[in-house]
Amino acid sequence: MSIRVGVAGLGHWGPNLARNFAELAELTWLCDSDQGKSEFASRYAQARWTASFDEMLADPELDAVVIATPVPTHFDLARRALTAGKHVLVEKPPAMLGSEMEELVALAQDRDLVLMPGHLLLYHPGVRRLKEMIGAGELGEVLCVYGNRQNLGIIRSNENALWSLGVHDLSVILHLLDEDPEQTIALGRDFLTDGVEDVVFCYLRFPSGKIAHMHLSWLDPHKMRKITVVGTEKMVVFDDMELERKVTVYEKAPWRPSDRYGEWQTRTGDIFSPRISSDEPLKLECLEFLRLVSGEGDRRKVAEDGARVVRALDLLTSSLRGS
Ligand SMILES: NC(=O)c1ccc[n+]([C@@H]2O[C@H](COP(=O)([O-])OP(=O)(O)OC[C@H]3O[C@@H](n4cnc5c(N)ncnc54)[C@H](O)[C@@H]3O)[C@@H](O)[C@H]2O)c1
Repeated sequence: MSIRVGVAGLGHWGPNLARNFAELAELTWLCDSDQGKSEFASRYAQARWTASFDEMLADPELDAVVIATPVPTHFDLARRALTAGKHVLVEKPPAMLGSEMEELVALAQDRDLVLMPGHLLLYHPGVRRLKEMIGAGELGEVLCVYGNRQNLGIIRSNENALWSLGVHDLSVILHLLDEDPEQTIALGRDFLTDGVEDVVFCYLRFPSGKIAHMHLSWLDPHKMRKITVVGTEKMVVFDDMELERKVTVYEKAPWRPSDRYGEWQTRTGDIFSPRISSDEPLKLECLEFLRLVSGEGDRRKVAEDGARVVRALDLLTSSLRGS
């Protein structure tokens, strides 16, 4: 049976979600509070247009709602959709406070509904490869992970670099390590707009002893979207700026203490890039949502993993603000 989906928010990102759900499911509603977006909606003859989120929710035939509105609206819209009994795919982050996210997770679990945050990178075939390599023990024991997400621009005035850029790296780091951090430190500065940090450095330490770091900035000469994982046997880099070599594996590792001066010897082998599928990550994300709605997979885990990301963002924000 085809799943009936409604998309709310038809700004920059929502149309990409609408395109995918029109192909993969039954796109029955398009919604935006801006009446001007009704013109876009006319491209999808099978979908009804509304400027009222509540009108869309009132359709008893609608199975699922996709929310691609501005971040401050996510919590309220997701809560209303879950309360109306709809499965929810909500853009990242679903809430701006850990307590709000817990409320959404509880609501979804009580009603056995899917609550999936749109953490796009988790569906990137390159990140999936990293997760597989770690799971299969190919890197040995993972020691540390760090993310670089830097560029000159886009300079935002509402979300800071932690929430705008860091949410991507954080979702990947927590997915790869599958632990909640026990220590979170963030340092940054709001150079251009008061209260909106443009440059943020984050440090996380996990109960297993693993550590992670993120350098997040839109005031930087380098355009970097990179995640590096250091293991005791191998090291691996996911570089989203690379067209073909998205993943590079370095057979480099510490080896053994040498007899001289107590220094360690290191081991260096091949450096290679496995083939990574060029499937569109957003299409894979939408397919995963539909799979969960249809009853396959672990719908509780995807919501709990999303809560872990918001909790960590919350803790990093408190550290950034010095509380
Ligand atoms: N996963 C990704 O890679 C990715 C990329 C871009 C944006 N996003 C996310 O997508 C979301 C939207 O971003 P954008 O750049 O498209 O924003 P945008 O401002 O371009 O569009 C948001 C749209 O939502 C509409 N809207 C606002 N409140 C509404 C409401 N209550 N009901 C219905 N419509 C409402 C606005 O009229 C607007 O058309 C954000 O959460 C952003 O973080 C994710």
